[in-house]
This record gives sequence, structure tokens and C-alpha cells, in this order.
Amino acid sequence: MLLKNVSVFWLLLGLGATRGAAFVGELARRNSTGLTSVVEWDSKSLFIQGQRVFILSAEFHPWRLPGDPALWADVFQKIKANGFNTVSFYVNWALHFPTPDTSNGQGDFETGTYRDIELFIQEAQKAGLWLIARPGPYINGETTGGGFPGWVGNIAGSLRTNNANYTQAWTPYLTTMSKMIAKYQITNGGPIILVQAENEFSQGTTQSPYMQAIIDTYRANGIVIREGCPAFSRRLPTLVSNNPQRSTCRPGRFGGGFLLQWGATPFGGTGYEKYTVSPGLTNADFENVFYKENYAQTATILNIYMLFGGTNWGGTAAPVSYTSYDYGGGINENRIANAKMNEMRLQGLFLRVSRDLLGATLLANGTNYTTTPLMHTAELINLETGAGFYVLRHNDSTSTALTTTQVTVQTSLGSLVIPRTGVLTFNGRESKIIVTNYVFGQSQSTILYSTAEIDGIDYVILYAPTGQSGETAFRLPSAPTVIPSIPAAGIASSFVNGTLTLNYVLNGSSFVSITEGQTKIVAIILDKASANRWHAPIIATPGAFGNYFSIGTNETVLVSGPYVLRTAEIAGNTLSMTGDVNGTTSLEIVAPGTISTVVWNGLPTVTTQTSWGTLKSQLDGAPAITLPVLTNWKVAGSLPEIDPDFDDSSFTAAHLTTTNYTNLPPLAGNVVLYSQQYGFYGNHLIFRGRFTATGKETGVNLTVQYGFAGGYSVWLNGVFLGSAQGSQTVSVSTSTWAFPAGALRVNATNVLVVFQDHTGIVETNSNGGKEPRGIRGYALLGATTPFTSWTVQGNLGGAGHAPDTYRGYLNEGALYAERIGAHLPGFPDDGWASATPLSGVSRAGINFYRTTFDFPVPDGIDAPIRLSITRNSTAASPNFRLQIYLNGWQVGKYANSIGPQTIFVLPAGILRRRSPNTLGLMVWAMDATGAVIQNIELVSDGFYTTSLQFTDYVTPDYAEQKALRPEPGFYNPM
Ligand SMILES: *[C@@H]1O[C@H](CO)[C@@H](O)[C@H](O)[C@H]1NC(C)=O
Ligand SMILES: *[C@@H]1O[C@H](CO)[C@@H](O)[C@H](O)[C@H]1NC(C)=O
Ligand SMILES: *[C@@H]1O[C@H](CO)[C@@H](O)[C@H](O)[C@H]1NC(C)=O
Repeated sequence: MLLKNVSVFWLLLGLGATRGAAFVGELARRNSTGLTSVVEWDSKSLFIQGQRVFILSAEFHPWRLPGDPALWADVFQKIKANGFNTVSFYVNWALHFPTPDTSNGQGDFETGTYRDIELFIQEAQKAGLWLIARPGPYINGETTGGGFPGWVGNIAGSLRTNNANYTQAWTPYLTTMSKMIAKYQITNGGPIILVQAENEFSQGTTQSPYMQAIIDTYRANGIVIREGCPAFSRRLPTLVSNNPQRSTCRPGRFGGGFLLQWGATPFGGTGYEKYTVSPGLTNADFENVFYKENYAQTATILNIYMLFGGTNWGGTAAPVSYTSYDYGGGINENRIANAKMNEMRLQGLFLRVSRDLLGATLLANGTNYTTTPLMHTAELINLETGAGFYVLRHNDSTSTALTTTQVTVQTSLGSLVIPRTGVLTFNGRESKIIVTNYVFGQSQSTILYSTAEIDGIDYVILYAPTGQSGETAFRLPSAPTVIPSIPAAGIASSFVNGTLTLNYVLNGSSFVSITEGQTKIVAIILDKASANRWHAPIIATPGAFGNYFSIGTNETVLVSGPYVLRTAEIAGNTLSMTGDVNGTTSLEIVAPGTISTVVWNGLPTVTTQTSWGTLKSQLDGAPAITLPVLTNWKVAGSLPEIDPDFDDSSFTAAHLTTTNYTNLPPLAGNVVLYSQQYGFYGNHLIFRGRFTATGKETGVNLTVQYGFAGGYSVWLNGVFLGSAQGSQTVSVSTSTWAFPAGALRVNATNVLVVFQDHTGIVETNSNGGKEPRGIRGYALLGATTPFTSWTVQGNLGGAGHAPDTYRGYLNEGALYAERIGAHLPGFPDDGWASATPLSGVSRAGINFYRTTFDFPVPDGIDAPIRLSITRNSTAASPNFRLQIYLNGWQVGKYANSIGPQTIFVLPAGILRRRSPNTLGLMVWAMDATGAVIQNIELVSDGFYTTSLQFTDYVTPDYAEQKALRPEPGFYNPM
């Protein structure tokens, strides 16, 4: 059978003599940094090693996959498998420089942690992905401080300018990063092709002295590749992000996340789900219409923000974001590739082989191409090769109408109205790319036009939604032999004047072999559901970049079935593949005729050969695994600080009277209570103020700055005064708290305690954007009595001396349970009381609960799980907050009265399979009536067989940190 005799190559160069000549002309127009010719560009695209490339890039941030950094490889492989060739990543300065002099100014990039950026780079390269490095120094990214360490906010003078104080702050970090990027840039054999200078920098241009200083730092440390947007945006083709409102990379913009603008990401927001599930605004249909619109506008560098969003664990979020940073990405927060990835794979594979699209010019666009004005057509022609790309969508891109039409296209045979038989159908949010004069394959065959979309090849994949009709015309010297795989598949062919026309209705899959002389073409005609199952994994070749398409290899096989196809190798007669399946899966493989054995995840599979030459096999899905039930909870009170006799001698004495937060100066009181100035940069804060009462004091006035959706509770001498709640739009509040009768101690020391939430440091867009966390102003009412002293506590040891340097200083806050290490595995809770969090907290205050559970998932199975909290809608007060800890990592902040998140990923990189897991839960009741949770349970996100290896990521437990933490005391639960 025909297929067995044809080696499977994707179209690579296909350069004819005329194109070779045009190529020389192009060389003259190409630009470079002048320091390397490995990465160049012209007005149409980037060139890597002299070849035009479409950069289809996925945004993925190292720290947002918490726990075991070995799982970066999982995400990279999934990104690569789904049509992307590049990853864009931020580096988060705040995580690497908790203090200005961390590791003698070299920064903390500890091996084996989320801070091991070199490992991140290496894993991307192993997966065959280019990298765009975005080290900031400012990154925004909905991360605390926008990537600025907390101490940067304390600097005198402005930020993101050439203020010498600020320059001194970022220079050590950026020097380290520049050296690392230089080491791994493509010219030194690494995967980094572009580097960004700053981010979303709106104050200036490349002429800004600050911007120039960053670029100079890059160059001085050996970076020779182009520094990126905002600098390259005007000369390179548009660099677009996942943002309909802001679709081009204007100077100062790498594009921003649009879900933020639409209110999905903040506490109290709508949640991501609204935008991603059908008929959501960012689902696969959105990708179909919006990304193709970008190609229509001749974008050739497209970065999807976020492709894998991940988790804002610990105190890593900015106040505009809750714990989940799922972002509606194609790979969800629990690492599952969803339906959006099928669409991206189809687009990515098309872009990978449609090299003529890269040099194409947008000739015109409008509604006059089609027989109905309801459709919009963009006409792109490659003026050197004559290839045409017509991108069609509803003129009103939000239309969900069913519209049929014909379109006028230019071909080598002149202007044609196609399809000549039947109509093109657009059902709602759908876009099609119709190609003309499309040269493909080793045979250099030409498709005159096709009304189904081409996925590029030797084997030409044509697809459209089920039930629609398609028409494809091939130019051939003489009448070919046409054999459909299933004779009755309803495929009609005719040959007239050198044109073979296929007419078909999309339904399942069919293979049509077309043989004419030495030319052998197989058209694989697929409905969309079938097309969504096909993969084209690269068969890597040895040597540098051997797993990069077009630079290293253009060899592939075609495989239908697996949910994820990670790798494919051919050795002798054996095709070995690795990947994941999400249920019983039928495999169908188009491979070289020499292949007789197919190995899946290390085990040979039984294959049969079809009459049309493919190999078929079946893979079993994973068995369901029973989830453990959470029982045997232990509990202790976790707010001893409200007791006026609590010994806070280890807390930091607040003595500062000046601040550099000049835009938000203290409002009242004689010492400054801004936590950053005392070295505390994230999570809860505790303030204890003392005064000697005259008896006239009636209350206290407090202004507390906690960040959006923050809040606080306040006590006098252990008597609860009340709580304040922030919201999506409220980050600071001023309240008066009356002292109840009997609370005041006359002629004695009184202790006022504020326990405050902290939802991250604002993303600083300028000096004026700096915001302190803590008490902005305090004054007693009824008398002018001053406070005699204040103490401040954030995470134990602050940023500089945190006991848990492995998880990092942003994992903990001031919470008593955290300071004594009760969130860590191995903490001795024998003396604690037995009580489930479902029994509730009876009054205002904080309990900390602990339990353990086993989750012995067998090897070869991926079983992502989440923790689900069910609200109690009839509880007396909705005002309570939870924090969730898995094996010592703080993985969730739940705000019952604010929302939206109620289900929290328990990251696979933290979850243990071979030893018990420790779950911790803080319950903070903010009203006198206490707090009740209806239910707390583990939920499954499915079971997948996988080639992924999971090891227990064992991070420091209690025993390792015991000596660095206070001796634990036991306090009765509330
Ligand atoms: C080439 O790029 C450099 C910056 O890398 C720029 O200064 C120069 O103007 C560019 N030249 C052209 C012809 O685009
Ligand atoms: C830099 O910091 C010093 C010391 O705090 C201060 O005196 C100076 O004014 C600062 N520079 C600017 C530009 O604010
Ligand atoms: C595409 O259409 C827009 C809107 O009508 C128009 O402004 C633009 O000039 C067109 N582009 C070309 C290349 O014709």
C-alpha cells in the first residue's frame, strides 16, 4: 500500500529556484544586533539560523508550579506536544533576592527548588522549546510587588528610573540574570532566542536612561541576542498577546492578561471558569477566531498569556489575584491539557509547515470577498511564491450565527469563486484559513485551493467541523489514481484540465491516496473532532537542537488518539512513544513502512495494519483510584498574641519615625507601622500596641492598609473589638472601634492587637504606586493618651532570617502556627485536641487544624487532585478565611465572604505517594459568632496513564527546623 513506501517528512524548505533568488535579496534586508547572525529579523518575521520561523510561544512562570521542579518537564512536554515552539518566562526577582545582599549579591537559585532557573532553561531545551527570557527587573505578572522584593519599596526616590538608589538595588540581580541568560542564549548552544528589557514600561522608550542601563547591563554581561519588546516591537512584526483589546505589542507593552481587565482574576471576581468553558470567551472557539485573526494581521510572533498559569502559592500573589492563576490556560492549574490545546496543536502544526505564510503580505481585507457581507476575509499573498492564505471569519467576530458563503480567491488559474460545488459553512465562532497555490511535500505538489483547512504535510490533513462539506483542488500533470480508504466514504473526485478536485462531507476520518507518476499524496480528511486527536511528534535527530523542528529535524510521524503525546523515537523497526491517555484510547499511526513494532510508555503494543496502510492499536486508560477521606483532625488555638500577657519580646520593636512611602505617609501615631520597613513582606501581620490608660479612653481609630480583599481583626486586652473586610476594590479602611465596658485596664498597661491579612504588595508602576502594608494611622479616642510602644511580627525571621529557606520567606506569615512550624510535616501534635474543622470555631479568633492522609497512586498514573471547601450558607457569619497547607507549603487562601475560589489544587509537585501527606488548615473567624464550614474533601481531576515519573518531593520537615523555631506551646481551640 502506498503509505508504507513513503517516508514521512513534513514540508521543510520546498525552495524552488525562483525562491532561492528571492532569498538572496532578503538577506540584504535582514537586520541583527550586529553581535550575532544566529537570530535576525526583517519586517516579516524572526530568522533563526537563517530560517524564517513563526514564534508560537506559551507563557509559563517557573515559580507558579510549586514544589518539585522536576515537573517543569511535564509542562514543557505538553506545551511542545501541542504545537508551540517557544516558551516565554518571567524571572521573579523577589524570590531570588529576599534581601539586597542574598548570597553575597549573587541571589538564591538553589538547586532542586522553584528558584533553580538554570534547570528550568535546561528542561525547556530538552523538550525542544526556544525561550524568551523576561527577567524584569519589574515584571508585573500579578505577582507580589510586580517582582520587586519588598525591600525595594523602601528605597528613597523613584523606582523604574535612573535614580541611583534604585539602580544600585537592581544591578546585582540583573547582572546575575544577564550572565545566566548569556550562558544559555542560542549562540552558546542554549535555547534563549530573545530577552526582554523591563516589562510593560510605559514611561519611556529605548531612549530612557533606565531602559538603556538595563540593555547596557545585558550587553556588558555577554548577551548578544536582541533585547525584546518594548524595544523590538516597532521593527519586528507585531508581537501579540492573548488580548483582544490590545492586540499589538506597542512600545512599552508585551501585552497584558485580559482576564484581569475583565475581572476574572481578583478576589471577589468572577473566576476563570466563566471565560473558558463553552460557550466561554477564551475557549477553543476563541482561539480559533482570535489567533487566526492575528495571523491574518501578519503577526509572526504570538505569545499566549497564560498557557500554563499555575498557582499563586504562599504570599506570591499581588493583591489583584487570588490563589489560582489558572488563567483559563490550555494547560490548567492541575497540569491537565484541555480542549484548547487541541485547537492550538492544529494551528501550531499548520504554522510549522506553512512557511509561505511567514513571508506573506496582507493585500487587503474586508467583506467584499464573499457572497455574503456577513463574512470578513483577509487576503495574504506571499509575493515571492504566489501562495495565498484567505482567513475568513464572521465580520462581527462575536457572531454565533450559521452562515454559508462562497469566496473569491486568486489562483495560478486566475480568479475563482469557491467552492465551485456547494458552500462554505461558518457555524458561530469559527474561522477558516483557505490556501491557494500551496506547495507542499517532497513532491512539491501544489494545492490549487482548498476549502477545508490544511494542516500542512506530505500527507495533507484537511479538516472542518462535522457535517460541513469541503472541496480541495490539486494541480497535477495528468490524471491520478485516486483511492479513498473507505470506498463508500462519499468522496467524489474529478480531473479536468490539470486539476484534481475532491469533494467531500466531513464525517470521521478518511484517507485518500492520490498517485500520479512519482507523485504520491495522501489527503487525510478529518472532521474537527477527529482532527483534534491527531499529533505530529518530532522524531529527534542527534546533535544540538535535534529536537527542534526545522533547525534540527523535520521528521515526524502522525499519531491519532493519545491525550498527550510527549516523545517519539524510531530505532530500527521500532517506533517508541511516550505520553498520556485519559481513558481507553484507539491509536492510529502513520509511520514509515519499515516500522513493525510500536512501543508505548516502554511496553510493546499489539498493532494491526489497515488496508490504507496505517497501524492501529488500543491503549488502556488508568483505573479510578479511591480518594482518601479526611479524618482524624487535630486542633489548637493559633492566636495567643491577643493575651495581654503574651511574651512578644521576640517581636520586632517598631521604632521608625520616617518613611520613604512618601505618597502614602502615616496618618496618625508617632511610630511608622509599615511592615516592609521592618523586613516583613508577605502574608499575615501582627501588631501589638501598648498604652497606659487613664480611664477616659473610649476606643481606637485605626487605618489599616491590607491590599484588595484583605482585612483585619482587633482586640483590646484579649477582648474582641471587631473586624474590617476589604473587597475587590477596597484595600485600606479606617474604622473606629469602641472599647466594651470592662475591657480597659485603668492605670495599667493595655495591649491592643491587630491581626491583619495581607494580599500581597501592589505591582508598582512608578514611585507613586508604592503602597505600604500595615497600620497607616492609629489614635485612641476619648483622651490624647499616646501608645508607649508597638511591636510588629510577620513571618518568623522576616525575609532575611526565615527558618525555611527551602520553601522561601513568602511561604509563611505571622500566624502562630506557622511560626512554631505546625504547618510542617512531623510537627508533634500529640498534645493537640481532636476536632474536625467542620465542628466550627465558636467565636472570633483562629484555630489551626492538622491531619494526614495517604494517597498511594501507582507508578504510571497521574492522579491530579484538589481540595474542595463547601460554604455553609446558613452560618451566622460569612466572614471567615482559611489558609491551606500541604506538606508545609501554603497552597491556598480562601476568603468565604469574598470568593471566588473554593477548590484548591494540591500540586503534584508537593503531594506524596509513598509517604503520608500532612494537611494544615487555618480557620480565622472574623466575627463574634464564629465560623462554620459545611464540608472539606478531596476531589479528583481524573486519572491518566502517563510516562511521567513521580517521586516524593521531600522538603524540610519539622525536625529539620525545630531548632530555628520557638518552642511550641498549646493553646485551647476557640
Ligand atoms: C537594525 O536594528 C538596530 C537595533 O538592533 C536598529 O538600531 C537599526 O535601526 C535597525 N536597522 C534597520 C534598517 O531596521
Ligand atoms: C537615595 O538614598 C539616599 C539615602 O536614603 C537619599 O539621601 C537620597 O535622597 C536618595 N536619592 C533619591 C534620588 O531619592
Ligand atoms: C484591513 O481592514 C481595515 C478595516 O477596514 C483597514 O483599516 C485596513 O487598511 C485594511 N488593511 C489592508 C492591508 O487593506
